[in-house]
Amino acid sequence: MVRLAPSILSADFSQLGQQVAEIEKGGAEVIHVDVMDGHFVPNISYGATVMKSLCGKTKLPFDVHLMIENPDLYAKDFVTPQTEYITVHQEACVHLHRSIQNIKALGVKAGVALNPATPVNTLSCILEDVDMVLIMSVNPGFGGQKFIPCALDKIRELDAIRAERGLSFEIEVDGGADLSNAKALAAAGVNLVVAGSAVFKADDIPERCREFNEIIKNV
Ligand code: DX5
Ligand code: ZN
Repeated sequence: MVRLAPSILSADFSQLGQQVAEIEKGGAEVIHVDVMDGHFVPNISYGATVMKSLCGKTKLPFDVHLMIENPDLYAKDFVTPQTEYITVHQEACVHLHRSIQNIKALGVKAGVALNPATPVNTLSCILEDVDMVLIMSVNPGFGGQKFIPCALDKIRELDAIRAERGLSFEIEVDGGADLSNAKALAAAGVNLVVAGSAVFKADDIPERCREFNEIIKNV
């Protein structure tokens, strides 16, 4: 199954509730929540308060992407009844196995993210423990960047390892996804397509979500 996960980082924050209603109307199934601390990435986005303001206003689950240092200290702040995933960066965790166990102990699914230059094989000892692997297809910190093509090779490599080892983690692609690459991404084995600017900068947000679903759900 492939689901569309619009990133609210690209939304109009002066009307965040209405923007989320638009993606829900268009058939998006997950809300991607990009959390940035200005240390791990050169940008500051928002904290748990903003995400929690959406609780109960939407039925969609939250897919929390922590682009922060010391994620073990803050993961618990993002646990709500609607939180489906909390994802930490492999590059931000000195003790990644412990970080993944800590997230699972919070009762949510645990994800690990790889920056574009970090090889898939750095995860070989943790793949049995994670619920999701997030493959960054841009350098983290901003929406609206260009897709980095080698991310597609990493997705294919990860999909093959998943099949070989009989594992069931999901694969998420994050950064620069749009209607032109969505089919290739879904065909490569992606289960969650994050799209920020391609969705929220569209003239018709619900229609853009429907266009994405038309592609990713028919591969
Ligand atoms: C970047 C974030 C992405 C980004 C996606 O650091 O992790 O989720 O917001 O935005 P687009 O789809 O515009 O690249
Ligand atoms: Zn993200």
